[in-house]
Amino acid sequence: MKQKIVILTGAGISAESGIQTFRGAGGLWEGHRIEDVASPDGWRRDKELVLNFYNLRRAQLLTVKPNTAHEALVDLEKNYDVTVITQNVDDLHERAGSSNILHLHGELLKVRSSLDESLVYEWRKDLVTGDKCERGSQLRPHIVWFGETVPMIEPAQRISAEADIFIVIGTSLVVYPAAGLLHFAPDHSRKFLIDPHADELSASVPNLRIIRASATKGVPELVKMLMDA
Ligand code: OAD
Repeated sequence: MKQKIVILTGAGISAESGIQTFRGAGGLWEGHRIEDVASPDGWRRDKELVLNFYNLRRAQLLTVKPNTAHEALVDLEKNYDVTVITQNVDDLHERAGSSNILHLHGELLKVRSSLDESLVYEWRKDLVTGDKCERGSQLRPHIVWFGETVPMIEPAQRISAEADIFIVIGTSLVVYPAAGLLHFAPDHSRKFLIDPHADELSASVPNLRIIRASATKGVPELVKMLMDA
């Protein structure tokens, strides 16, 4: 039976594709306070602002491409049973060709009813006020905002608990519950953290190796090492 690899990715894996990470630029996200554009309160206050914000993100996503880090992860599937758990709302893992992807924080190329969460639609163009679901309520981005529950966290925890190898790439590990997944990996599993700014968080995590490198450098090297093993 193939060993199980679970990969938790964050904004850092898409940075070299040209998508800005969240933290760093003075706490602002493309010039906005996160609570204005990524919370139910922000949505209640100003739907136009929120829709425009995600329209820009969606349009930009359609102009960028997966990088060698997204691509290298696909190679692992030849020898391992691989699940990618991503906090990213982009579709770069899909476009690179990964087979099992769980989106913890939603997807930019989907929208959903603001009345009924189960009504989800593929969406590539701009979303505007007046765009409605089949039950007549305003459509909103299919994104998990701050203060909302994370519906995929339970399957993500179950999968993490079965990992033989757990790889974390490009996340500041500050947003919970996603950041806690590393602690669901069994103590005996081998763990790797690839991030150029990784801190020392990690003394408390057994079997963790920190690789301080950008994703496009660190991921292909780690994949090669795991494929040669
Ligand atoms: P952050 O912006 O918090 O962290 C990005 C991480 O990527 C940092 O640790 C950087 O050091 C690292 N990084 C930067 N460039 C890199 C590169 N070239 N290669 C590898 N790593 C690099 O992003 P997340 O941890 O993903 O939620 O943020 C978590 C969540 O907060 C997001 O999913 C988003 C946000 O609010 C929602 O949208 C719901």
